[in-house]
Amino acid sequence: MFAVVLVGGFGTRLRPLTNAVPKPLLPLGQRTILEWMMVHLARGGVTDAVLALGFKPEPFLAAFPDRTCAGVRLHFAIEDAPLDTAGAIGFAARSVGLHERTEPFVVANGDIVTDLRIADLVAAHRRHRTDGALATIHLTPVVDPSQYGVVETQPDGRVTGFVEKPAPGTTASRHVNAGTYVLEASSLDVMPGDAPLSIERVTFPHLVQQQALFALATDDYWLDAGRPDSYLRANLDLINGRRNDRDDAVHSSAVLDHECEVRDSVVGAGARIGKGARVIGSVIGPRAVIGDSAVVEGSVALGDVAASQVVRDALIAPA
Ligand code: GTP
Repeated sequence: MFAVVLVGGFGTRLRPLTNAVPKPLLPLGQRTILEWMMVHLARGGVTDAVLALGFKPEPFLAAFPDRTCAGVRLHFAIEDAPLDTAGAIGFAARSVGLHERTEPFVVANGDIVTDLRIADLVAAHRRHRTDGALATIHLTPVVDPSQYGVVETQPDGRVTGFVEKPAPGTTASRHVNAGTYVLEASSLDVMPGDAPLSIERVTFPHLVQQQALFALATDDYWLDAGRPDSYLRANLDLINGRRNDRDDAVHSSAVLDHECEVRDSVVGAGARIGKGARVIGSVIGPRAVIGDSAVVEGSVALGDVAASQVVRDALIAPA
């Protein structure tokens, strides 16, 4: 099965980290967000993934010189100009000929961190196919849906309303678009891929009108890792056993002075933590150096922190 993974966004909310590293290539535990995505897709039966690239494609090409990741074959579709979500899907899917096939394919936003079993979403889509489903989307419950695409469904899973970022009080639903979809190849007819188009604002509302959009709601672990607080939380949840997956907190090649304190934190490969330094609830990126007596709390340090410097709730880009 094929997947299209959207990784071409600017990642503005995670600046300055994303000035140097595209969001999907940021660390998540001891891998990257994108590597975990591939682990997850492979488990669900995905053999081939097309990376829908736009902004900064070069680091992706460099990160996967053999064009595989977690056993998934990678294909690269590079947009000349940003095509937005549905434009990017249409362009990337055509680049590998999915518009000429009959089987459905998976689409995933590259910044979603979830324990959803992809195979469950594919199975739900296959059940809805006989009812005319062109797309089945994963839904997750949230407390405040105002920043998401809110979805109203019938008991059989058919979507009756899809409202992107609704004004307060306009919908009773707390279920939102969770950023993983299964699409029929024929849905590409409404995603030509030659101009910017939003799947959230245009394509999904259009499919609702055609009664061709279905949904699967689950309460699996789910985070949109695109904000500083949620990106940090995604890392800490992975080392603290709040997920089905778990990763090492401290990489075996990191060097920790025996007089430093490291608590509830990710420390990447080759990082160094100096004498008397305190690292609490933070991510220290691969090869970052935390100087003697520095304090790093609630922060992501992909670059160095000088001796005795104190940083709290900060994002530090690599130099
Ligand atoms: P912000 O700038 O912080 O909002 O992040 P973002 O650029 O990633 O935008 P957003 O989180 O809304 O995008 C959702 C997903 O679609 C992400 O995985 C993006 O990488 C991807 N995406 C958004 N716009 C485009 C685009 O024009 N082309 C491609 N290929 N992907 C896109």
